Amino acid sequence: MTAPSQKIAAFRRFLLSWYAEHKRDLPWRKTTDPYHILVSEVMLQQTQVDRVIPKYRTFLDTFPMMEALAKASPAAVLKAWSGLGYNRRALYLQQAAQQIVAQGNFPQTAEELQQLPGIGAYTSRSLLIFAFNKDEAAIDTNIRRILIHEFGLSEESSAEELLELARKLLPSGKSRDWHNALMDYGALHLTAKSSGIRPLSRQSRFQGSRRQYRGAVLKVLVDGKNPTLQQLARQWQKEKSWIKELLQEMEKEGLLQLREGRVFFKQ
Ligand code: ADE
Repeated sequence: MTAPSQKIAAFRRFLLSWYAEHKRDLPWRKTTDPYHILVSEVMLQQTQVDRVIPKYRTFLDTFPMMEALAKASPAAVLKAWSGLGYNRRALYLQQAAQQIVAQGNFPQTAEELQQLPGIGAYTSRSLLIFAFNKDEAAIDTNIRRILIHEFGLSEESSAEELLELARKLLPSGKSRDWHNALMDYGALHLTAKSSGIRPLSRQSRFQGSRRQYRGAVLKVLVDGKNPTLQQLARQWQKEKSWIKELLQEMEKEGLLQLREGRVFFKQ
């Protein structure tokens, strides 16, 4: 995709002046502490800004330093995470904190960051942008929509094509402000509704339902109970084989342990 340099310059000017007037005041924008940015970015991976704000604050009240998160029990981490969903992220975040503490410094490249559990291509770049203001480009659902709309691209454009354009658009040395501006413009002005551009992935009903049960198991454990498979099957009116398969999947991911037909937190 080739975007004319005039269009690029005009869009930069337009967006940065729009941002100067409309920027959102979000708590993770008041810091560049890489640990705080890490917490916010992992929370924002699948949860909306409004729901993240109070959780971000209480999570950091509970674990103000990376060392505190690294040392905590998984149960305490899940408790601080409750309400955000996708609980696996909480344990990945803790494991990432443990690895960073053991290493003794926060990774400074996308490759190193992607070695950490739960950190993919997007999150690795967003950390470099928001913590270190590095000249990197990251594309979330809002930014994808803006690129497609402003530059007349197909909704079928590949991630690589979009990334190539995003890199050209990035004003050097202003990565943090630039990405905040794009995210705000997409969230407040050029929404999916106003643009008619649909987000890429929707959760299937099936995944949604599994996710509910996965969340419910962890809530039971956070509440200090250790039910048997039988009890869960009865309570939820589900086949025992279905419950077992779900629990075994969670066990493989390191979320819990099954011992003699009973569910425990991973020790
Ligand atoms: N989504 C992902 N990262 C974000 C951020 N830093 N601000 C707002 N929304 C986001």
